[in-house]
Amino acid sequence: MRTLVTGGAGFIGSHLTEHLLRAGDEVVVLDDLSTGREANLDAMSDHPGLRLVVGSVCDREIVDRCVRGVDRVFHAAASVGVLKILEKPLQSLRTNVHGTEIVLQAALEHGVPILITSTSEVYGKNSRIGLREDDDRVLGSPLKSRWSYAEAKAVAESMTHGYTTEHGLTAVIVRLFNTVGPRQAGQYGMVVPRFVEQALAGRPLTVYGDGHQIRCFCHVLDVVPAMVALLEDERAHGDVFNLGGTEQVSIGGLAERVIAVTGSTSDIVHLSYEQAYGEGFEDMRRRVPDSTKALERVGFRPRRDLDDVIAAVAAHSKQRREVEHA
Ligand SMILES: NC(=O)c1ccc[n+]([C@@H]2O[C@H](COP(=O)([O-])OP(=O)(O)OC[C@H]3O[C@@H](n4cnc5c(N)ncnc54)[C@H](O)[C@@H]3O)[C@@H](O)[C@H]2O)c1
Repeated sequence: MRTLVTGGAGFIGSHLTEHLLRAGDEVVVLDDLSTGREANLDAMSDHPGLRLVVGSVCDREIVDRCVRGVDRVFHAAASVGVLKILEKPLQSLRTNVHGTEIVLQAALEHGVPILITSTSEVYGKNSRIGLREDDDRVLGSPLKSRWSYAEAKAVAESMTHGYTTEHGLTAVIVRLFNTVGPRQAGQYGMVVPRFVEQALAGRPLTVYGDGHQIRCFCHVLDVVPAMVALLEDERAHGDVFNLGGTEQVSIGGLAERVIAVTGSTSDIVHLSYEQAYGEGFEDMRRRVPDSTKALERVGFRPRRDLDDVIAAVAAHSKQRREVEHA
C-alpha cells in the first residue's frame, strides 16, 4: 500500500507515518515544515519506504504529483494552534480551506480514498457533556479570529461532504479532540507540552483563566490506529467520527498532575485570557466527546490515561533537551 500523509512531519502526522511504515506501507509525506519538523521523522529517516516532499498543500502541482501513484491519502496538514491562528488568520484560513480543497480535488481525480482530520473546535461553545457528531455548533462572531479555525475546519467538512455526495469521492472525516503525546509543540498554545516544559524547567505553570475549564486528552498512539481503521472500513466512508479521550480534567487539575508526574517544584500561576491571547478572547468551559460511533465502527477505546500521556511527553521533552544541549 502506498500512502500520502499531508502534514506528516507534524505531531499527529509523524506518528501516523511511523505507524503506516511499521505496517509495511510506503509513505509520501507532504509538509511545508511551518509547524512540523524534519526531526519528527528522525526515527524513520533511514526507512526505505519513506519520502519527504517539502511543499504546500496550497500548491496544486505538488499535490497532484504526490497523490499520483498512491493508494490513499491522510490529510493532516493544517494551520494549527490558537496562537498561530490569532497571529496569521488569513493564511490559516487559506491553508485550511483552500489547501483542503486542492487535496480533495486531487484525491477525486486520482480515484483514491481520503481521510480528513477535522476538530472538536467545530462544536465551538457547545458544552454538552458527551458531544455527538450531529450536535449543534455554537460559535462566536466570525470577526473573532479565534473562531476562524473552527469556521475553516467546518467548511472543509462541508466541502468533503459535497465531494462525496456530488462526485462520489470516498472520504472519512475524523473530529479529533485534544490529542496529545510526544512531539507536540508547545509554542502555539498547546497546553500539555507547555505545562511539561515549564515543570521541567522549574518555572511556574501558567494556567489561563480560572483553570476550571474542562477538557479530555487522548494519547496520539490511541488515535492513530483508529484513523487508519476508519479509512480502511468501507462502512465508515461518507461519515464523520469523534475521536477523543474519556477522562475529564480541569486545566488547573492538569497543571497539578503535570507537577506530580514530573516531580517538579514549580508553582502554578494564573493569567487572564486577555493577558495570554489579547482582548476579547473567548473559550469554551467544557469539551467532552462521545466517541461511541468510532467505538461501534472500529472498536476505538483509548487505553492510555492522562498520567501515561504526561510521562511520555516529559520523557520526550527531556530527551530533546539533552540532544539540544549536547
Ligand atoms: N493536536 C490536536 O489536538 C488536534 C485536535 C484537532 C484536530 N487536529 C488536526 O490534526 C491535524 C494535525 O495537527 P497536529 O496537532 O499534528 O499539528 P501540527 O502543527 O504538528 O501538524 C500540522 C502539520 O501541517 C503542516 N502544514 C501546515 N501548513 C501546511 C501547508 N500549507 N502545506 C503542507 N503542510 C502544512 C505543518 O508543518 C505541520 O507539520 C490538523 O489537521 C489539525 O487541525 C489536531
